[in-house]
Amino acid sequence: MTLEDESDVAVSEAQIAVHWREEELYFPPAAFVGQANASDPAIFERFKEENFPECYREYADLLTWDQYWHTTLDTSNAPFWKWFVGGKLNVSYNCVDRHLATQRNKAALIWVPEPEEEQTQAITYQELYRRVNEFAALLRDFGGVQTGDRVTFHLPMVPELPVSMLACARLGVIHSQVFGGFSGSACGGRIADSQSRILVTMDGYYRNGELIDHKAKADEAVARAREEGVEVERVLVWRRHPGQYASESPMVEGRDFFVDELLAEYRDQIVEPVSMPAEAPLFLMYTSGTTGKPKGAQHSTGGYLAYVAGTSKYYQDIHPDDTYWCFADIGWITGHSYIVYGPLALGTTSVMYEGVPTYPDPGRPWRIAERLGVNIFHTAPTTIRMLRKVGPDEPNKYNYHFKHMTTVGEPIEPEVWRWYRDVVGKGEAVIVDTWWQTENGGFLGSTLPALQPMKPGSCGPGVLGVFPVIYDEHGEEVSAGSGRAGNICIRNPWPGIFQTIWGQPERFLDIYYRKYCRDEKSTDWHDWPYFAGDGAMQAADGYFRILGRVDDVINVAGHRLGTKELESAALTVDKVAEAAAVPVMDDLRGRAVEMYVSLKPGYEAGTDIEHEVALAIENEIGKIARPKNVWVVPDMPKTRSGKIMRRVTAGISNFTDVGDVTTLANPEIVEKIRIQVHAAKMASGQLPRELTAAELEEIKGFGHAD
Ligand code: WTA
Repeated sequence: MTLEDESDVAVSEAQIAVHWREEELYFPPAAFVGQANASDPAIFERFKEENFPECYREYADLLTWDQYWHTTLDTSNAPFWKWFVGGKLNVSYNCVDRHLATQRNKAALIWVPEPEEEQTQAITYQELYRRVNEFAALLRDFGGVQTGDRVTFHLPMVPELPVSMLACARLGVIHSQVFGGFSGSACGGRIADSQSRILVTMDGYYRNGELIDHKAKADEAVARAREEGVEVERVLVWRRHPGQYASESPMVEGRDFFVDELLAEYRDQIVEPVSMPAEAPLFLMYTSGTTGKPKGAQHSTGGYLAYVAGTSKYYQDIHPDDTYWCFADIGWITGHSYIVYGPLALGTTSVMYEGVPTYPDPGRPWRIAERLGVNIFHTAPTTIRMLRKVGPDEPNKYNYHFKHMTTVGEPIEPEVWRWYRDVVGKGEAVIVDTWWQTENGGFLGSTLPALQPMKPGSCGPGVLGVFPVIYDEHGEEVSAGSGRAGNICIRNPWPGIFQTIWGQPERFLDIYYRKYCRDEKSTDWHDWPYFAGDGAMQAADGYFRILGRVDDVINVAGHRLGTKELESAALTVDKVAEAAAVPVMDDLRGRAVEMYVSLKPGYEAGTDIEHEVALAIENEIGKIARPKNVWVVPDMPKTRSGKIMRRVTAGISNFTDVGDVTTLANPEIVEKIRIQVHAAKMASGQLPRELTAAELEEIKGFGHAD
């Protein structure tokens, strides 16, 4: 959906009623409640709307400030909110140095390599302090970076990643970590957009038992950035096994350097943490949106850290003596907020795992939990579905005990939720389903674990100090319990909200605020609801059920992929004339991508073209975006004005009713494509399954404004 273009919409999607069975409530175990950080309902009083924004002092007071702020929330340049104005602090000091006095030799990070025979590394706060300082000295003196510069990382799940993040934070340098599984080209695009002169990468890492050559991607990244006019001066290469180079790709003289060799010069160096204004940017996290290229969500220093510390304390229930494992990738916002910054700000032990959940067998996560004594576990529905499918009884074989579990990233089916609770959690753990986005810094919708019951498939109400509302397309409120869905928005700002899209303030306004803004001149936050881009409905008890994106974003295993990016990648294949990406329901990944392409005159359909398109997408974006099917069709279904009707191809891919096609410019093509696609799907065993009401609406509305 393009926000400007809603006139084409036949039925306003925000009006659609979704039939949904109410699930029963589950209450937290008494043992959990007894020890919870938030077990007194008085907390709801402190965070009620009358106390906004001052309620968030409580989060900011979890941090150590060099200079206390004078204004909690400055709205004078709405909606570019400023939190804790006048305050100064350093994030690396807050996540590392300040814990040394009392817990110097406690593990800050425990890193589990994928090969099971390789030793687990416990990195104490003291050791982390050393490593962060040494790398900060190297970045400053060898890299020549200064406060406010951007540095791009393309790192896998290794401790060098949090070390690099904290080293940048120590210097007030803005980091931009690109998910390790993304292609070199995708990384290069992000380097160019952020204008980074330095790329930090690694030679290789383990995935599914294989040592992957990762450095090769750095060469592609540098080349792509150069095409976009940005010259990478230095590529700093950590080695997975220091001293041994694991990549086939040659080191470029004068450009590429091994970090482990350079570090010898910086041994035991200490870098004073730079005291940064609360409003200084801490990092960029690129994410996909409705149109165009990925956008760099710019996160702040003080507001962000306060928000992730506060939500980690109350929603993750992290205490300093917990062993907390967030099984996600630091390349996503979840990892930034809830593997690195939140848990370390609270001085707990955060576990990181290098590899895939099922390597070498589906018991692996539970062995890790047992061996390390993990008591808080956090992961995504896609991982839960996969582990349930391949090892439904595995958790029973291991002696671990979780007090708390989290799910994040996509809607979870109630059936999968129950397996998570009963089998993974052994019925002993409380569960929080946390709804939020890259742009948000931290949780927006969830239950406060000791105080609000759980409901499978619903994330819960707005979190402390966050006041969501559902609007229809006309800005009318859709009331709780009405049984209707609409666009979920947040009425107020919160400290974790991103500051802008890097370098594109207009786009920031357009995408997130223009739709429901009441008065663009207003400096009153009440006039600026935040548009999240998700469909949702609210039950009578105030709990939200998130239905999925209302824009052209396909959420594959919790990863946001923009249709425009997928289509541009397909169009890099010379023979392709037109491309349309659509979601198809997938039992493990939630959604998978299917591509429809038509060819330029003179080219014949064939499996070679299908492979070329799939490969192009893998090269431009990464393996996670690889389409499940590529359909080479004689023509795309189009409106009379020549727009591709994605809802028609989406309907065909999902075996649903494609609706009225008589107004198309070429209605006859629909049946041809349907026969082609359905025959091929049936022949390869991709059989239709029944869709839920919400899924049907998603398909019916997909790309509807195109
Ligand atoms: C979806 C991930 C249902 C939603 C933190 C959102 C969810 C998008 C949930 C953001 C949840 C995330 N229940 N849907 N608990 N959490 N989503 O930016 O559509 O990678 O807009 O951030 O994932 O994905 P992102």
